Amino acid sequence: MKLIDKLNETLTYLQARGVGKVDLGLILGSGLGELADEINSTVRIDYANIPHFQKTTVTGHAGCLIYGELSGKQVLLMQGRFHFYEGYSMAEITYPVRLMTKLGARGLIVTNAAGGVNAAFKPSDLMLISDHINYNGQNPLIGENAEAFGTRFPDMSAAYDKEYRQIAKKAASQLDIDLVEGIYMFFSGPSYETPAEIRFARTIGADAVGMSSVPEVIVARHSGLRVLGISAISNYASGMQGTLDHSEIISITEKIKPKFKELIKQILEELD
Ligand code: HPA
Repeated sequence: MKLIDKLNETLTYLQARGVGKVDLGLILGSGLGELADEINSTVRIDYANIPHFQKTTVTGHAGCLIYGELSGKQVLLMQGRFHFYEGYSMAEITYPVRLMTKLGARGLIVTNAAGGVNAAFKPSDLMLISDHINYNGQNPLIGENAEAFGTRFPDMSAAYDKEYRQIAKKAASQLDIDLVEGIYMFFSGPSYETPAEIRFARTIGADAVGMSSVPEVIVARHSGLRVLGISAISNYASGMQGTLDHSEIISITEKIKPKFKELIKQILEELD
């Protein structure tokens, strides 16, 4: 089945359930999905019921699509995302971004938990993503180009919108939240990186590492969506301190949640 036909089926399903025009899409990572509780006049649908959606398989990642009003914007929010390490194809992972585009989204906010590579970062910091390194070797745009969405060779020289970043910095300072800034490097996972890989990541310019977001951002940029990315630094990356454990990462993101929610809401107020 062609992408466009799948999208039309999904759209028909969602529209029948009250999903309307979207200003901004949000994809919320590990443990950060609670923001959805603050959305007004909510439509909430489990991924399992949505045609052509996948299921999330990871603890700490819910699987719910939520539509409604937040900070004066119509948002379509993914509470939990699909990861490459779950065995999904790049097309499956990025399908919701195509959907957001079809619903009219002008911008996409991606959030994730990430390991801090920059020695100046500490767990519980929030990092504004200034750029990424797609180290995964895969690209979600490989294959026949979806001409209806964008060009064969999309520009990535300003993937993370400069104005959105300015807005995020201003919002953080208004709320007295420290917001560091840096480059996010995408590893496929699910194993965490080795200390040698982290030294390599630092050497080539990464400030944080994680297992998500980059595919969605590439697809969003293919269609000209403006992108804002925020990483919740949940741990020192491999080799920088002790061993890594998913449950510890979840518990740090729990702590970050309140300031993270406030920041995103404030940013949404200011975005156009
Ligand atoms: N590495 C990769 N992904 C992650 C990490 C990490 O250290 N922390 C949270 N997600």
